[in-house]
Amino acid sequence: MKLTIANLPIIAQGQSIFNGASPQAEKIKSLDYGFIAAASLVLLLVVGLTVFITIRYRFKKDDAEPKQTAGNRKLEILMVGIPLILVIVFFFWSLKTMSAVNPDRGRNKPDVIITGHQWWWQASYPGTTVNTANEIHLPVGKKILMQLEAADVIHDWWVPSLGGKMDMIPGMHNYLWVTIDKPGIYEGACSEFCGQQHAWMRIRVVAQTPADYEKWLTQHSLNAVKPTDTLARIGAALFMNASCSSCHSIRGTAANGMQGPDLTHFGSRQTMLTGMMDNTTENINKWLTDPQKVKPGAHMPRFIFGPDSVRALTAYLKQLK
Ligand code: CUA
Repeated sequence: MKLTIANLPIIAQGQSIFNGASPQAEKIKSLDYGFIAAASLVLLLVVGLTVFITIRYRFKKDDAEPKQTAGNRKLEILMVGIPLILVIVFFFWSLKTMSAVNPDRGRNKPDVIITGHQWWWQASYPGTTVNTANEIHLPVGKKILMQLEAADVIHDWWVPSLGGKMDMIPGMHNYLWVTIDKPGIYEGACSEFCGQQHAWMRIRVVAQTPADYEKWLTQHSLNAVKPTDTLARIGAALFMNASCSSCHSIRGTAANGMQGPDLTHFGSRQTMLTGMMDNTTENINKWLTDPQKVKPGAHMPRFIFGPDSVRALTAYLKQLK
């Protein structure tokens, strides 16, 4: 069973709220247009009146005080009434939008649990053994309940084309609905400053047809493949004996660390380091040689691996499809 996501188009690289690809994002977009229209009208009115008055009354013949107006009920009702109507309209419009985007807590079971870590995303799929990182696969056309959590500090989930933005807070569960319209790759980013590598905490949602998604889920439920060639076997032994295995899990092996991303199917990901670079042999080599040079502050310690060890580890990781 060969799976590829290489042919999926990147739909929302622009990360724009005006590029909605779910009913939830569309609702937020309408509300945004409403706000922009109302704010523009107010701006035009205020600036227009200011310009008009500046021109119309720029000269005065004498120094007498202008005529004063007080207690004009019509004017006062207008001045209070218009802003009040605007606030009421947008209050209820916002409530309506929120109820479409934010689900009732606890009433439904989440389809996916996403946990923000410094600085990567963990995605686990309840009811399956699937536990992956950074490239989050979801089916299109289905109303998906996402449970959002944080492992260390506050992160913030935001894929603008798919809908709302939601904080991920340690010790709390937050929820979002999303129904993705069409297959593709949707990009987003962590939207709450969470430390040195916050800027490289990119999100990639891989939206697939339900059939492709099921295939992906089935394949990713499997344990890691056993290395077949000599180099990869050496890499596997290194992985288990060096400290890699105390921070990373590879299902079906002795590696069961929970600190770093699960690497059971690492080789099938297109990108690495949370969207920082393509998942290529060259990039993995660079990363394993000197993680702190590639991603300063990352929680991966600097091991002193020689070039031969790096090559073997990379060969092992690459074939973990
Ligand atoms: Cu995680 Cu910013």
